[in-house]
Amino acid sequence: MKRRILTGDRTTGRLHLGHYVGSLQYRVDLQESHETFVLLADVQALTTHFENPALIGQSILEVALDNLAAGLKLENVCFVQQSRVPAIAELTVFFSMLVPVNVLRHNPTIKTEAKQYGFEELSYGFLGYPVSQAADILFCQADLVPVGEDQLPHLEQAHRIVRRFNELYGGGREILKRPEALRSRVGRLPGLDGSSKMGKSLGNALYLNDDAKTVHEKVFSAVTDYHRISSRDLGHPQLCTVYRYQTAFNPEEAEDICQRCRTGTIGCVACKRRLEQKLNELLDPMRARRAAYAQRKDLVLQAIDEGSRKACRLGEETLEQVKEAMGLRLG
Ligand code: TRP
Repeated sequence: MKRRILTGDRTTGRLHLGHYVGSLQYRVDLQESHETFVLLADVQALTTHFENPALIGQSILEVALDNLAAGLKLENVCFVQQSRVPAIAELTVFFSMLVPVNVLRHNPTIKTEAKQYGFEELSYGFLGYPVSQAADILFCQADLVPVGEDQLPHLEQAHRIVRRFNELYGGGREILKRPEALRSRVGRLPGLDGSSKMGKSLGNALYLNDDAKTVHEKVFSAVTDYHRISSRDLGHPQLCTVYRYQTAFNPEEAEDICQRCRTGTIGCVACKRRLEQKLNELLDPMRARRAAYAQRKDLVLQAIDEGSRKACRLGEETLEQVKEAMGLRLG
């Protein structure tokens, strides 16, 4: 039996390079050797975008297309629309008893996002989404979860739920399996504006289906080492956002660029030109695949439908085991 991967994307718009280095890359690399589930997290999207459900609805197909553009193949991936799987919602209820509210309040990603969205008061749904995310992962008893750095606190939350559930209800057996995080090789990707994270809602992202002109504009507007005025000034690559992108998308040349920047023998314009070229080499095949799948939306919609049905079956099985372990089954 192949090991199982599950990961997900909130359906709040298109996917960007941060998603690619954090998670998409792994899904693509591991799709043949693992059974791969990609959750189109429309319910979780509501926790931050409940006032804009139309955006969430449109983004379900868009996010699936972005995954296919990145290189996942329809025959390898099981797309799951979160709101179509009742077992996820039901598991969330059972797990919610095991999670102290204060732990959720102190979850670093919840704190950062609450600030970012300007939430003065946190909704019950938003504060609790890490519990629901644990249900996303556990409904299919996933082995591996490829995620970006910001998701690690949620994975820890899932671990605590698994440990607590098994302790309380397992009677020595492992009812729920502990999922393992698969962490990004290059760490967190900063935004084009130099802020710590590339994010859809932060307006600092380079999207997988940006065209070449947009890539050009974005790369050339990206912040660099602002101490550096002339190309002969000695640069500080460790402070430069564009250099971080070089290490992520142009690892072969990164060392050379680093040396030249430090010694003032490459300017920011030349450095950005090299990055732009590398990004287009990465994105060109994605643009082509996206265009091809966009012609066959019917196939993609059908895959989401079939994947969601399969998820319902698996979720139902897990839910049965959970209820039985908790002694909720008569006879
Ligand atoms: N929280 C993830 C994000 O914002 C999306 C997500 C939802 C997810 N459910 C998941 C990721 C389950 C991994 C596993 O990107």
